[in-house]
Amino acid sequence: MEKLKDKIASLSSTPFSRQTIACLLNDLYFAPCENKDALKEFLFEQARKKRDQYYSRKVFLRGLIEFTNYCQNDCFYCGIRHSNKKNRRYRLSCEQILDCCAIGYKNGLRTFVLQGGEDLYFSPQRLEAIIRAIKERYPDCALTLSVGEREKDVYERWFKAGADRFLLRHETATKWHYEKLHPQTMSFSHRLNCLRTLKKIGYQAGAGMMLGSPQQDISCLVEDFAFLSAFRPAMVGMGPFIPQKDTPFAQEKAGSVELTLICLALVRLLLPPVLLPATTALATLSKDGTIKGLDCGANVIMPNITPPAQRCLYTLYDNKKITDGESVEGLQKLKEMLHRAGYEAVMSRGDSKMTYSIDGTV
Ligand code: 5AD
Repeated sequence: MEKLKDKIASLSSTPFSRQTIACLLNDLYFAPCENKDALKEFLFEQARKKRDQYYSRKVFLRGLIEFTNYCQNDCFYCGIRHSNKKNRRYRLSCEQILDCCAIGYKNGLRTFVLQGGEDLYFSPQRLEAIIRAIKERYPDCALTLSVGEREKDVYERWFKAGADRFLLRHETATKWHYEKLHPQTMSFSHRLNCLRTLKKIGYQAGAGMMLGSPQQDISCLVEDFAFLSAFRPAMVGMGPFIPQKDTPFAQEKAGSVELTLICLALVRLLLPPVLLPATTALATLSKDGTIKGLDCGANVIMPNITPPAQRCLYTLYDNKKITDGESVEGLQKLKEMLHRAGYEAVMSRGDSKMTYSIDGTV
């Protein structure tokens, strides 16, 4: 037990070791271990302390705009996959997106996240015009894109237009596992190359994975942590896998809240300055999932500012819980919940404290 605690305590100050992470994941989660609860509590406490050291008890709020649920991809886990004919599709117009920003801005939000399926209707030019319009009206706000895989020149164009950050979860750092989660038309190496390109261009890049996705085993997670440690993203988005009823994975088991919390804490210790959201998926599986996530080292929440009529159609998985950021009351409720748990909602841009050489060597 003491040895394991030492391993946890020195995660931030020692070079990444696959063996250490495998050993910790094993004892914290995968194998029976008599001191599991005490060990987990120690891990969570260390992660909280590390978060506090870098970001104190401040939690950054981001306004999430789910602007299209059209998607050309067919990821086996995702409810907005191309082949799902049961999903009613929508796209927000540029005006509608700007309306979302106006509401978010009025409510105090200073980061907007444009998230959507891989929808080629939003051509390089079309999305560029939207980015420029947002940045022109709200030059004091950060803009995050989460729109999937595109070519280098397109990423460059959007960066020049003013996009600051880009979220592209790697989903899994193990090739065989990637191929279990995605159809043959999707390429593991292309996805990783996109991430390297984004970082090289200068975006604050975000990676991440689902916890408990079908066939994920301890070795997949070890690879995920190895990848994250080497790549050093500015953000890491992680949530439990949740089955969606109209996908090939409808009958698969959901990931666990416990594993998600352990992984959040491990990422906080491996990459202390990282921005780490307590995700919607975590809040969906656990009533107080958001606070639990923060108590394990997370420091970001993404309230939803998509118009209510559309947000219920953005169904990546079943029973999605929505943190409302559109209504003043919704945001007030969130702020009060944070305050009760000892956190402070912060509305500033909230840039990452992660520094890295932008050489894209990983
Ligand atoms: N359960 C949990 N997360 C999901 N995502 C997609 N489908 C699911 C699901 N069924 C995640 C993916 C994607 C992000 C936008 O949402 O990791 O990158």
